[in-house]
Formats: sequence, structure tokens, C-alpha cells
Amino acid sequence: MESLSSRSTSIVSKLSFLTVWIVFLISSSSFTSTEAYDALDPEGNITMKWDVMSWTPDGYVAVVTMFNFQKYRHIPSPGWTLGWKWAKKEVIWSMVGAQTTEQGDCSKYKGNLPHCCKKDPTVVDLLPGTPYNQQIANCCKGGVLNSWVQDPGNAASSFQISVGAAGTTNKTVRVPRNFTLMGPGPGYTCGPAKVVRPTKFVTPDTRRTTQAMMTWNITCTYSQFLAQRTPTCCVSLSSFYNETIVGCPTCACGCQNNKTESGACLDPDTPHLESVVSPPTKKGTVLPPLVQCTRHLCPIRVHWHVKQNYKEYWRVKITITNFNYRLNYSQWNMVAQHPNLDNITQIFSFNYKSLTPYAGLNDTAMLWGVKFYNDFLSEAGPFGNVQSEILFRKDQATFTFEKGWAFPRRIYFNGDNCVMPPPDTYPFLPNGGSRQQFSVFSAVLLPVLFFFFFSR
Ligand SMILES: *[C@@H]1O[C@H](CO)[C@@H](O)[C@H](O)[C@H]1NC(C)=O
Ligand SMILES: *[C@@H]1O[C@H](CO)[C@@H](O)[C@H](O)[C@H]1NC(C)=O
Ligand SMILES: *[C@@H]1O[C@H](CO)[C@@H](O)[C@H](O)[C@H]1NC(C)=O
Ligand SMILES: *[C@@H]1O[C@H](CO)[C@@H](O)[C@H](O)[C@H]1NC(C)=O
Ligand SMILES: *[C@@H]1O[C@H](CO)[C@@H](O)[C@H](O)[C@H]1NC(C)=O
Ligand SMILES: *[C@@H]1O[C@H](CO)[C@@H](O)[C@H](O)[C@H]1NC(C)=O
Ligand SMILES: *[C@@H]1O[C@H](CO)[C@@H](O)[C@H](O)[C@H]1NC(C)=O
Ligand SMILES: *[C@@H]1O[C@H](CO)[C@@H](O)[C@H](O)[C@H]1NC(C)=O
Ligand SMILES: *[C@@H]1O[C@H](CO)[C@@H](O)[C@H](O)[C@H]1NC(C)=O
Repeated sequence: MESLSSRSTSIVSKLSFLTVWIVFLISSSSFTSTEAYDALDPEGNITMKWDVMSWTPDGYVAVVTMFNFQKYRHIPSPGWTLGWKWAKKEVIWSMVGAQTTEQGDCSKYKGNLPHCCKKDPTVVDLLPGTPYNQQIANCCKGGVLNSWVQDPGNAASSFQISVGAAGTTNKTVRVPRNFTLMGPGPGYTCGPAKVVRPTKFVTPDTRRTTQAMMTWNITCTYSQFLAQRTPTCCVSLSSFYNETIVGCPTCACGCQNNKTESGACLDPDTPHLESVVSPPTKKGTVLPPLVQCTRHLCPIRVHWHVKQNYKEYWRVKITITNFNYRLNYSQWNMVAQHPNLDNITQIFSFNYKSLTPYAGLNDTAMLWGVKFYNDFLSEAGPFGNVQSEILFRKDQATFTFEKGWAFPRRIYFNGDNCVMPPPDTYPFLPNGGSRQQFSVFSAVLLPVLFFFFFSR
């Protein structure tokens, strides 16, 4: 009897291993070709536009504007870094609203020295508080670029560049090549510059239109896979109908016993916590993240609690907790996917906007903090959390507490996909019935989800 059951278990485990493997192969082959693709923001990109405003005796003056067309991914402090390679022997005579990090070798020049002579300049934004005579519109925000949905007014960044030793007509100018964008870390891939129709500018009174001499565009897209291999957030779940709290998966963002960089963590009971958290460092150095020791080691946890059931409504409480001692998240955002997000009745103390990744699909919402109230998620500690409640109106045709329906399908924090617990561990309704069916279903679904979360 016993050997029979153990044999059938081993067959089952072989079968499910096979399923995992097949699903893995299928999903990896379909994902590699679409690496930068984000299902919830398929068009998301950062587009840079170079408008040549005038020709000079040895080159041109251009205004470069970066637009963040991503719905929910912003570029946080310390901001963007932009690089490219000149096609010829161009130099930068001067810049307004940004600067290169290095001047390079300008020894060929006498008297009036260029701002930068490097073949591959690296440009950063100026800091807030820059004198007005060194500013242009949309500059000097320390490289911070907000997302399109959250704050369209601050989703652009501009600087002016005066280029020498360059072409002086639209026939002789060579567009720069090999653009790179750090935002602030890796993750973005930029395409080649494409000459497009010259931008038209309308005067504020709309009575006159001028146009650029020449315009080229560069589009950069983001891939979480390129950015870092370890996830940065995880999801935990609970409900009023079952006392089980399903925590984040163990080792979701790293493992504690592994003392490599992702494994280093700090016990909150450490004496002299303050001095360990911020050791004396040179000004301007960026400290590596330091997270609180947890089973999951994620800097961010999103907790989804199914709180109450009413006749026509149901209520969810969302808590976002910061476990990173070395990072305050300003202007954080979160994206949730759940079928009932098409019919939110009320949301308390977060901003909300429905995202429609595809026409007719309304199951995705972006949430972010209310300015000056909870848009700042403090470092790990007593204030390191923000919370809100959502009231959903039930659609009687689809609503159920069974099979984990009330839990989100996907959660993103600051544009990064969060690791979900495996579906067959979700808290379920007492006497919920179809448990067996559900775990067979999840045996197929789980590897897909697993691969999905760890691949981006
Ligand atoms: C960049 O994003 C904008 C806005 O979503 C979209 O209109 C445009 O087609 C995108 N560009 C590319 C090259 O994907
Ligand atoms: C070039 O970029 C600008 C701003 O990012 C955008 O408005 C314009 O549509 C782009 N042009 C083309 C042809 O993609
Ligand atoms: C250069 O300018 C001329 C005259 O304005 C125009 O006809 C031509 O299309 C432009 N070429 C490019 C590559 O923009
Ligand atoms: C730079 O871009 C050119 C095409 O514009 C490409 O052939 C070359 O491989 C790139 N070089 C690097 C180092 O990426
Ligand atoms: C620790 O992590 C590194 C890199 O992530 C990995 O190569 C190594 O095998 C891990 N060690 C253990 C004991 O898990
Ligand atoms: C986070 O913000 C608080 C209050 O502004 C500040 O005291 C603290 O030093 C900041 N922490 C980090 C890691 O930047
Ligand atoms: C999706 O939501 C938007 C805004 O709430 C609404 O205008 C639109 O009609 C909805 N679409 C569907 C298919 O429900
Ligand atoms: C929300 O649900 C109510 C009741 O089911 C329905 O009357 C209403 O049209 C729904 N609204 C949307 C935007 O789907
Ligand atoms: C609550 O859900 C868990 C699965 O996550 C299950 O093991 C447990 O039996 C459930 N509790 C009740 C009272 O049904």
C-alpha cells in the first residue's frame, strides 16, 4: 500500500516536473524575443528629441528634451545619466540646464575652451537651485523624471547644447550614435536616432508657428530583466474569512544565509542601529541597499487584506511596507491588476487612476500617495509604511471569495513586478470545496507565474 502510494507520488512529481520544464521552455522562448515588453504598459518608453534650433559657424545649437512616456515607472533620485558617441569629431562648446561629468582632453583648443571634448560624453541634469541664468524650462531637477500618469507636468527634462566641429546644414550634420540611458541604474536600452519631421513650436498667443531646423528622436525602453536579476518587492495576503496570513515567498528577493550582496541584512534589534545604517561615508557616494532581515529579504512588501464583505460591496486594505534602511521612496507608485478594479467605488487616502493596457480591458489600476500626506514612503522603521482601503462594487456575475479570486493577479511597485505567493497557498474559504481542482490548476499556473516574476 505504502509503496504504491509513494510510487504514484513520484509519478505525479515527475509529471509536474515535466510540466514545469515544458512551460519553462515555452515561456523562456517567448520572453527572450520581447525582453523589454511590459504587458501592462506595452507602449512604455522614454523618448528623447533633439531639436536643432539654429546653425552656428561651426555647428549647431540644439534643445534636447526627454519625455517619460511610461505610465508608472519614474526615474528617481539620483536621476538620469545620458551618454552617446559622436559620429565625427564634435565637441560641446556649452550647455544650459545640464552638464557633462568630464571635460576630457581639450588640449587641441586654445583660448576659448569647449565644455567637453570627449568622444562619448556623459551628461547629467543640474540640481535644483541652479542659478536662473543657467536654467532652461524643464531642467535642473536633479535628473528626476516622473511618470506619465502620476505627474505629466514633471515627466519631461530638457537641456540646451551647443555643438562645435559639426555639420552646419541638415545635409552635413551626423546624428550621435550609441545612446545609453541610466535611470539611475541599468535597465534601459536605446535605439538609434531617427531623423523625424522638424518640431513645430507655437507661440503662447498661438498666432505664430516656428520650427526646428532639424529634429531627431531616440526611443529607450526598459526591461526589469536587464535592470537586476533579483526582484525588489513581494506580496503577502490575508482575509477576514481565514486566519492564515500568507507571507511573501521565502527568499523572494534573496536568501539570508547567503552573505553575498543581496543576502546582507540587518536585524532590527541590532544595538546602535543608527550608526550601522549610515556609516560615515564620503559625500556623494551611494550606499548599497540595506534591508531588514526577513524571510523574503525584499526592500518592499505589499500586503493585500480582504477586510470586509457587504451585500453589494467588499473592502480591501492595502499596506506597503519599506524594509530598506537606506532608502526613502518619494513619489512611490503601485500598480494592481484585479478583475474588480473596473468598478472601484471609493479609494481612501491614495490617488487612483485606471490604466487600460488594451482597449476594453479595465482590470488594472495605478495607485500613488497623496501629495504631502503619504507620497513619501519613509525608510524602514516605525514610519516605513503607507496604507489605504479600497471599496469595490460587486459584479454578481463574477464576484466570489473562492479560489483566491479576491486577491490581486499582479502587483507592481515603482514599475517592478512583485513576487506573489504561489496560488495554492492562498487563504481559502472554510469548506471552500474545490481545493483539489485548484491545486492541479495551480501546478500548471505556478511555473508560468514563477518564470514570469523572476524573468523581469
Ligand atoms: C513611445 O510611447 C508613446 C506614448 O505611449 C507612443 O505613442 C510611441 O509610439 C512610443 N514609441 C515607440 C517607438 O514605441
Ligand atoms: C519624436 O519625439 C517627440 C517627443 O518625444 C514625439 O512627440 C514625436 O511624436 C516623436 N516623433 C516620431 C516621428 O516618433
Ligand atoms: C533639409 O532641409 C531641406 C530644406 O529645408 C529639406 O527639403 C530637406 O528635406 C531637409 N533634409 C533633411 C534630411 O531633413
Ligand atoms: C554603435 O552603434 C553602431 C550603429 O549605429 C553599431 O554598429 C555599433 O556596434 C555600436 N557600438 C557599440 C559599442 O555599441
Ligand atoms: C549565494 O549567491 C550567489 C550569487 O547569487 C550564488 O552563486 C551562490 O551559489 C549562493 N550560495 C548559497 C550557499 O546559496
Ligand atoms: C529619509 O528622510 C528622512 C526625513 O526627511 C531623513 O531624516 C532620512 O535621513 C532619510 N533617509 C535616507 C536613507 O535618505
Ligand atoms: C474603463 O474605465 C474608464 C474610466 O473609468 C471608462 O471611461 C471606460 O468606459 C471603462 N471601460 C470599460 C470597458 O469598462
Ligand atoms: C459598476 O457596477 C454597477 C453594478 O453592477 C454597474 O451598474 C455599473 O455600470 C458598473 N460600472 C462600471 C464602470 O463598470
Ligand atoms: C485557510 O487557508 C489555508 C490555506 O492557505 C488552509 O490550509 C486552512 O485550512 C484555511 N482555514 C480554514 C479555517 O479553512
